[in-house]
Amino acid sequence: MSVFLGIDIGTSGTKTLAIDERGGVIAEAMETYPCYVPKPLWSEQDPEDWWQATVRTVRRVVEQGSLKPGDVKAIGLSGQMHGSVFLDKKDRVLRRAILWNDQRTAAECEEMEDRVGGRKNLIKLVANPAMTGFTAPKILWLRNHEKKHFDKTAKVLLPKDEIRRRLTGEYATEVSDASGMLLLDVARRTWSKKLLAKLDLDPGLLARCYESEEVTGKLTPQAAELLGLSTDCVVVGGAGDCAAGAVGNGIVERGVLSTSIGTSGVMFVHSDEVKIDPRGRVHTFCHAVRGKWHMMGVNLSAGGSLQWFRNELCKADAEKARQEGTEVYDALTAEAAAVPAGSQGLFFLPYLSGERTPHADPDARGCFVGLTLAHTRGHLIRSIMEGVVYAMRDSLEIIQGLGVPVRQIRASGGGSRSPLWRQIQADVFGRPVVTINSQEGPAYGVALLAAVGAGAYKNIQEACQATIRVVDETSPNRAAKRRYDRAFPVYQQLYQSLKADFKEIAALEG
Ligand code: XUL
Repeated sequence: MSVFLGIDIGTSGTKTLAIDERGGVIAEAMETYPCYVPKPLWSEQDPEDWWQATVRTVRRVVEQGSLKPGDVKAIGLSGQMHGSVFLDKKDRVLRRAILWNDQRTAAECEEMEDRVGGRKNLIKLVANPAMTGFTAPKILWLRNHEKKHFDKTAKVLLPKDEIRRRLTGEYATEVSDASGMLLLDVARRTWSKKLLAKLDLDPGLLARCYESEEVTGKLTPQAAELLGLSTDCVVVGGAGDCAAGAVGNGIVERGVLSTSIGTSGVMFVHSDEVKIDPRGRVHTFCHAVRGKWHMMGVNLSAGGSLQWFRNELCKADAEKARQEGTEVYDALTAEAAAVPAGSQGLFFLPYLSGERTPHADPDARGCFVGLTLAHTRGHLIRSIMEGVVYAMRDSLEIIQGLGVPVRQIRASGGGSRSPLWRQIQADVFGRPVVTINSQEGPAYGVALLAAVGAGAYKNIQEACQATIRVVDETSPNRAAKRRYDRAFPVYQQLYQSLKADFKEIAALEG
């Protein structure tokens, strides 16, 4: 029996799943952990929590699937991108990891662009401008603000690669996640020595970079024993969670775009060539498909916006749902479904963690605009769902404007399990939105990459063709589409109107 594991080190938790040779899911387990917000717009996690969740979820999967140590042939790793794990020379974690949605590095982004002679030059070197969430500015932040930690730093690893180190003892990464460090020459798929020199950073800080399906090591005897697996089990490169989720969605060929509503919102499109947005609004990264690239737009608080609303304003409902064994989001979205498209003039700007695409503005703030006495809680919820999809439409329009073909849109992520959120997507995008047979996300994508690495499939395209198919389609409702087409420019204008105020609000806090 050949089994492949996918492990996804997400922001809200770690998910592990096991698939058989035909891509069928045998077992899965999930475990959550906290996210720390020591200051507004900062975001940190403890890598030890990721490791404990990895160990426990793998063990549960091994137990659930009655797997024997030799059954699991390969593991694929996925994880939240851009997070920085700083290790000293004895592999001790120096401080909590700084995450993708942390906004502390605005000054370091400027420093990066200054050091290379401007934004355009940076885009030439690494295909993307400096963004506060990316890894390189975090390394500079450590040097500027926690020199004692920087001086001791021997390696900087991404979240999933820290887990790889604990599994295999290797310092390794792969091209899709490495692209988000802002230190990779994305066109050539190798570290940019030129940029490292300009930033005065030692290339030795970085892990060795592989393609996504390549084998990066085997389990150490300690890890194998702890997990109930064999030392013959290999660990492949895997992918950052966006590329991994896209692979799990079959986005491995031209013309197919995925929308994902998890904590963040991601619009992801495959590209056979390196295409770069000269204005740097959407990212161009290496894909987890060998020799291919992808473009994506990222909204920092997508599902995260609704989660915030539930956590802060629906505590009693959440408790009631828990007691009844129901899902609180079902109750909340039922309230939203009773409200007409457009939320009767109520808008929500989902900038609760600042925003990445298209504004790259750490000072942007979340807001409800247009409230009247007529609005109910259902309106607030619906406007959150609509605001998230408007934010995603911003990315879709940029991607299409760059001439990247979009033939089909596939919806995925926890948020897309909601039929209402899928309908809002079809209506706001003005085109059908399909779903596929698997809604497992990034863990599934890297389990497929593990299967390719272990030789069960020739390449990832073949693995996706064998396992993934479209099962459902949501068509746009004409009247709702018309309403959203009129509302979208208003949504876009609101950021422009409020931009200067956001800066002043941020300065008040600072
Ligand atoms: C991608 C990004 C997020 C995280 C979330 O650029 O920042 O999607 O990867 O897990």
